[in-house]
Amino acid sequence: MLCIVGAAREHHSEEDSDTACFFLKRTCTLIHMAAYSVLILLFWAHAIHGMKTSKPNVLLFVADDLGIGDIGCFGNSTIRTPNIDRLASEGVKLTHHLSAAALCTPSRAAFMTGRYPVRSGMTGHGGYAVLLFSAAAGGLPPNETTFPKIVREQGYTTGLIGKWHLGINCESRNDFCHHPLNHGFDYYYGLPLTLVNDCQESKPTEIQMSFKKDLWFYAQLFYVALATIVACRLLNILPVPWIIIILFAICGNAFFMYWFTAHYFYQRWNCIIMRNYEVIEQPMNLEKNAFSVVKEAKAFIRRNRDGPFLLVVSFLHVHTPLFTTKEFRGKSKHKLYGDNIEEMDWMLGEIINVIDQEGLVNNTVTYFTSDHGAYLEGMETSYDLTGYNGIYRGGKGMGGLEGGIRVPGIFRWPGVLPAKTMVDQPTSLMDVFTTVITLTGGKVPQDRIIDGKDLMPLMQGLGPHKHHEFMFHYCMEHLHAARWHDLSSDTVWKVHYISPKFSPEGSGMCRATKLCSCSGNDVIYHVPPLLFNLMSDPSEKYPISQETAPYSQVLQKIQLAVAEHNMTLSQVPQQLYGSNNRWLPSLQVCCGVFPFCSCNKEDNM
Ligand SMILES: *[C@@H]1O[C@H](CO)[C@@H](O)[C@H](O)[C@H]1NC(C)=O
Ligand SMILES: *[C@@H]1O[C@H](CO)[C@@H](O)[C@H](O)[C@H]1NC(C)=O
Ligand SMILES: *[C@@H]1O[C@H](CO)[C@@H](O)[C@H](O)[C@H]1NC(C)=O
Repeated sequence: MLCIVGAAREHHSEEDSDTACFFLKRTCTLIHMAAYSVLILLFWAHAIHGMKTSKPNVLLFVADDLGIGDIGCFGNSTIRTPNIDRLASEGVKLTHHLSAAALCTPSRAAFMTGRYPVRSGMTGHGGYAVLLFSAAAGGLPPNETTFPKIVREQGYTTGLIGKWHLGINCESRNDFCHHPLNHGFDYYYGLPLTLVNDCQESKPTEIQMSFKKDLWFYAQLFYVALATIVACRLLNILPVPWIIIILFAICGNAFFMYWFTAHYFYQRWNCIIMRNYEVIEQPMNLEKNAFSVVKEAKAFIRRNRDGPFLLVVSFLHVHTPLFTTKEFRGKSKHKLYGDNIEEMDWMLGEIINVIDQEGLVNNTVTYFTSDHGAYLEGMETSYDLTGYNGIYRGGKGMGGLEGGIRVPGIFRWPGVLPAKTMVDQPTSLMDVFTTVITLTGGKVPQDRIIDGKDLMPLMQGLGPHKHHEFMFHYCMEHLHAARWHDLSSDTVWKVHYISPKFSPEGSGMCRATKLCSCSGNDVIYHVPPLLFNLMSDPSEKYPISQETAPYSQVLQKIQLAVAEHNMTLSQVPQQLYGSNNRWLPSLQVCCGVFPFCSCNKEDNM
């Protein structure tokens, strides 16, 4: 702007020496130019001002393994969650909010992409349902479009603080192809994998446990076999060439060494904290984490107070091992589980207080949810450190049962969204993708199927809005259930094709294996499928008899929708299958020189 004015002035002084007639003409041009300049200036001032006031900040909280029955505003009267409750009382409560999967990795993939995890190959297979190693090659494919990627193009500064669990590297230790900074975030601080019991030495192992048993079994088998072959050779019973025996011994030992290293040092490899691309704690300091997350979130908001910003706070709470700082230990009515929730609520409160202090409350859209239902089995033997899914049957890992996927959902945007309201229609965590992109002025990708819908019209109670007429509930890659919101009667039907076999029977969970299976001998294939009316039977207790009128009609309708849904699926590379879900030393992010990875770079905090 100043440049144009300056240039015009220079022009003027040049013209001074010219004839009067010419001068007059030039003056006109000058006046024109000046007028244009003022207009342009006004336009920019308006645009910049407009950008500041019309682009809201976005603050999304995602809890881990938190049950819908675990917090006050969703009916828990014995756990204190005043800060989450405050969000609900100042905003809209989504009472029929559903995650796209009942486990972390697939649910988070769907949340980030607005698409069913089956579309990005993030569903899992066999015993591999979530990413198990920070050095696994699988993860959210780089060609998936996340909402921060689009929001960032709208002039936003984007940050993720906390858990990611969607992969790090593809082919080398530092290609970071799946890393948050390669998926639309400008800033990352947190745990790239997930919290597990193995992150806390005093707890029973969670990941190592199953592998250890297998390891000893196969190792014994191997050494007995090796000894037998050597003995046979020495006694000339079986003339196996020595070279074969030596190769067998080397390969076997190498394999067991690899296996042992991957699992014995699980904490060292996987319980780590990164700041952007750098590992800063290896292994992580659990005691520090709650404070660090709060401190990081506050600092991010303050740094970007002139906005607009998008911040995702992805809590490590309330996943096992339920690590809780001493300020909150023993303070709740529900042992460590309740303590951990109350600590998380405190953290959320600290962060939304900064929004208040910075005067951003009316210009910030705040959201709270959990990645899926509560973990019923728990890792302890006493079963008193497990979550609660309210009236809903089932929990974490049970993709088709309501308790695995029905999660709390809260949106607050004072002045735009009504306070103290409830939305009872089926909504999805995938809707956050479309809603956030739309309200930040971005465009939802047109080159792929997006399953999420814009929730704003529905939450504002304004005119027509897009419904989820059908929803599909997967357990890993297997379709376990489907839901139909029949708009003509406002009934929500749910059909179950497959459900887990509980152990012990009738317990409503899978205690023996700690996590229910999605296929094979440990599930029940319902032929004919079970049908429930969720409006009259939200606990899925009373299947509708095949003889009654709506059964075949409803089933047919849903069957058709499933067939149509299947037509939209295509073959994609599988990210969580065995070989993509193994510890690959070459992909291990590491502080210092591999394999001596160890550091605590910011210990003075
Ligand atoms: C509150 O949550 C705890 C922990 O999940 C659970 O044991 C308890 O039954 C819940 N209480 C109510 C009243 O919902
Ligand atoms: C935010 O908006 C509400 C409702 O529109 C209003 O009552 C309140 O004073 C506003 N708060 C601030 C800090 O601007
Ligand atoms: C991403 O790449 C894979 C492998 O080439 C392909 O199958 C998939 O369709 C791509 N996804 C999108 C959204 O383009």
